[in-house]
Amino acid sequence: MKVLIVGGGGREHALAWAISKSPKLTKLYVAPGNAGIADVAECLDIQAEDIKAICAAVRDLKIDFVVVGPEGPLVDGLADKIEAMDVAVFGPSAAAAQIEGSKGMMKDLLAKYDIPTADYQRFDEPDAAKEYIRVKNHPVVVKADGLAAGKGVILSHTLNEAYAAVDQIMIEEAFGSAGNEIIIEEFMIGEEASFFALCDGVRAVPLAGAQDHKQVHDGDHGPNTGGMGAYSPAPVLDAAMEKRVMDEIITPTIDAMAKEGTPFKGVLFAGLMINEDGPRVIEFNCRFGDPECQPIMTRLKSDALEMLHAAATGRLDEIKLKWHTEAALTVVMAAKGYPGKYKKGTPIRGLHNANAIDGVHVFHAGTAVDENGGIIATGGRVLGVSAMAKDVASAQQKAYAGVDAIDWPDGFCRRDIGWRAISRDD
Ligand code: AMP
Ligand code: GLY
Repeated sequence: MKVLIVGGGGREHALAWAISKSPKLTKLYVAPGNAGIADVAECLDIQAEDIKAICAAVRDLKIDFVVVGPEGPLVDGLADKIEAMDVAVFGPSAAAAQIEGSKGMMKDLLAKYDIPTADYQRFDEPDAAKEYIRVKNHPVVVKADGLAAGKGVILSHTLNEAYAAVDQIMIEEAFGSAGNEIIIEEFMIGEEASFFALCDGVRAVPLAGAQDHKQVHDGDHGPNTGGMGAYSPAPVLDAAMEKRVMDEIITPTIDAMAKEGTPFKGVLFAGLMINEDGPRVIEFNCRFGDPECQPIMTRLKSDALEMLHAAATGRLDEIKLKWHTEAALTVVMAAKGYPGKYKKGTPIRGLHNANAIDGVHVFHAGTAVDENGGIIATGGRVLGVSAMAKDVASAQQKAYAGVDAIDWPDGFCRRDIGWRAISRDD
């Protein structure tokens, strides 16, 4: 099979690395890829958002199967366009991708089918939103309806914070047109986990669970990021909880989407809040999480290409997934200043020293090769130093040994990735 992966982050490096091991693969392309992805695939100079150029490449290179990494092109209809060319694609249609593209639509679907999530209301003007906040009079979360690159969510503990959040999104337009409509929802308490299920339109198969670390600093302090590190499995998602998530959330959602005429194909990523009452949906995404995809692909024993292709072609009943029983953990190294302003083009050395450690693998998220052949940082999140070992604590130790082998003075990372799982075991 000739395969094209769309995207160029740590998630896509993990997917490319896993797919490159498949005996079914004849040639792997990634658009646009990055310096690390170039070790396992041919990178095409095409941006993930450039749907026209991607379709042209699919035609010219006679691609058999396209795997779409990020949500943007899916919401914009890339999967529909590729299917119309009679080429298999992993990722939902534009209509099904609305589960991530419109938080309001997602909440209405969950409410209609009685799937557990926070209480909410949708608003398209600020005064009614503020009146709702005043009457509710407890902590709320204010969310922009549309895609806001992982931002667009403001946790508000007081009335004034909540009013200010409404103004920031609707009047100051902090997230642009994504905030033309907002959702105000109940502030849920519990432990967060990321749950991934492969879906083929009618069936859903659970992948490994994971936990992410959204805040930029140790101890979960500081502003939210796209994710500073992740590990799999997540102790909170034990076998009993996984069954509840499948029965109470994933299967009903897949059934609901099929019933609504927008069957979901690809990976359904449920951000969950778990407490003594069970799991509830925080949000849905229509793609793999990043960095979560990195520890998950590290633990996957089955053929990744076969697995994704089965989901894309409605044959999930034919596959049985196998996992390494060990834990995998990824530490994200980011450019100093991230998630705020940061420098680009700073040199990174010592990657081979990290990769030489047994069980350590460095995925690239934002790198390029400079004119002297050296690796430079080109993004906010730049590397995902991943390791697999017998448990989360050992995987953490190994991953930080990898981090310490890397010489990148302009980068930083959290030093406590995995703390929640490790403190449970103590
Ligand atoms: P989202 O982009 O919807 O995942 O939100 C970003 C982060 O905000 C989540 O990972 C949670 O930590 C937090 N969050 C979102 N919605 C809620 C909620 N209703 N209650 C508590 N925390 C929330
Ligand atoms: N790590 C969270 C996300 O990919 O949205």
